[in-house]
Amino acid sequence: MSATSEVNEKMSGASLEEQKMSLNDDDAGDVVNPWNVSSQSQTGIDYNKLIKRFGSSKIDTELLDRIEKVTGRPVHHFLRRGIFFSHRDLHSILTMYEEKKPFFLYTGRGPSSEALHLGHLVPFIMTKWLQDTFDVPLVIQLTDDEKFLWKDLTLEEANRLAHENAKDIIACGFDPAKTFIFSDLDFIGQCPQFYHNMCRVQRSVTYNQIKGIFGFGDSDHIGKIAFPAVQAAPSFSSSFPFIFGGRKDVPCLIPCAIDQDPYFRMTRDVAPRLGFPKPALLHSCFFPALQGAATKMSASDPNTSIFVTDTPKQIKTKVNRHAFSGGRDTVEEHRRLGGDCAVDISYQYLTFFLEDDARLEQICADYTSGELLTGFLKKELIDVLQKMLAEQQERRKAVTDDTLKLFMTPRPLTTRFC
Ligand code: TYM
Repeated sequence: MSATSEVNEKMSGASLEEQKMSLNDDDAGDVVNPWNVSSQSQTGIDYNKLIKRFGSSKIDTELLDRIEKVTGRPVHHFLRRGIFFSHRDLHSILTMYEEKKPFFLYTGRGPSSEALHLGHLVPFIMTKWLQDTFDVPLVIQLTDDEKFLWKDLTLEEANRLAHENAKDIIACGFDPAKTFIFSDLDFIGQCPQFYHNMCRVQRSVTYNQIKGIFGFGDSDHIGKIAFPAVQAAPSFSSSFPFIFGGRKDVPCLIPCAIDQDPYFRMTRDVAPRLGFPKPALLHSCFFPALQGAATKMSASDPNTSIFVTDTPKQIKTKVNRHAFSGGRDTVEEHRRLGGDCAVDISYQYLTFFLEDDARLEQICADYTSGELLTGFLKKELIDVLQKMLAEQQERRKAVTDDTLKLFMTPRPLTTRFC
């Protein structure tokens, strides 16, 4: 691979400043980067445009068919419904699986709040399905260092939130025999090989490139500029010698929402120069804010979010009070003209969490025709969320300090590949 970056290749001819602009927003006003997601449109981000802008590939029917063929299982409804809509190199991962060659999964969380919200669950639910389906090792990075650098948090508080969030993540049902969860602040000092890879990445990316990819400015502190190498390092198997026995050629697949893609465009750019495989990616769209799809659900604004710790009453109040409606102004008008599922947040949330395809289709048809009112959709959503979060909270209760310690101890993992 030449020194030309993958980012430069995809944006041929653009200056660094133009790249920065085009990565951060487009002519329709869609902004997608690790710190900000917003759209001018009530239906949210135009994901087809985003695929073109980021240079990733659409997940099409052919790829879905191939996943089913290779795994012998129906695809998860997140894939079937286009919630995971974009990828990089997923075909290569499927080929590795067919050839019984090893790969691993890598995902993460930046612990900025006491609990995860529903949007954060999306990549973790997908990751669990991938772990169950492919039986491969999984590493989960908790970037407490990132949150110290970006938010008004002490190191101690960011580290405490990492441990709290790890319990929510474990409660998604990950298998301890196959999963290693680590806090950057705890782990990096214990693992020289991880730090070696960080240094290798840092020497391979210039300040100009990092400014072009992430939009950092001259007054940003150097902690921010150095951080992307920390999120890149877990993509390389040699960062985890206790799992991969020093092998540097095991590729990874990273499920995440598409806001994290800039980190991995940078990682894919440097990987071949370091003699490592490029990470493959599986991108999801954003779980929208209660107020509408123009912004994503975000932990920094509690009114936009339903947290995994919310009580049944809080869920009900938040949905009834804040969930944006696609209904008409009066019942008569609604019956005559019908509701709009494309902007109705209760319907949008049901597409993520109501697994029954036939029921979802019926709800869509009846809301669109005007037969169902918004109140019905809200009630349906409240029932689905109350049940789902009650189960999540039961599993969370069973996560003890010993369970946490087990997941967070560097150790060999047991899967079909190692
Ligand atoms: P963080 O904590 O912002 O988000 C954690 C994961 O959740 C995804 N996500 C969402 N997905 C759908 N809808 C939403 N509204 C929504 N909000 C967040 C994020 O894309 C992410 O997958 N820097 C990262 C932590 C990290 C990481 C990684 C994430 C470190 N290594 C590898 C993914 C993959 C962060 O702050 O994520």
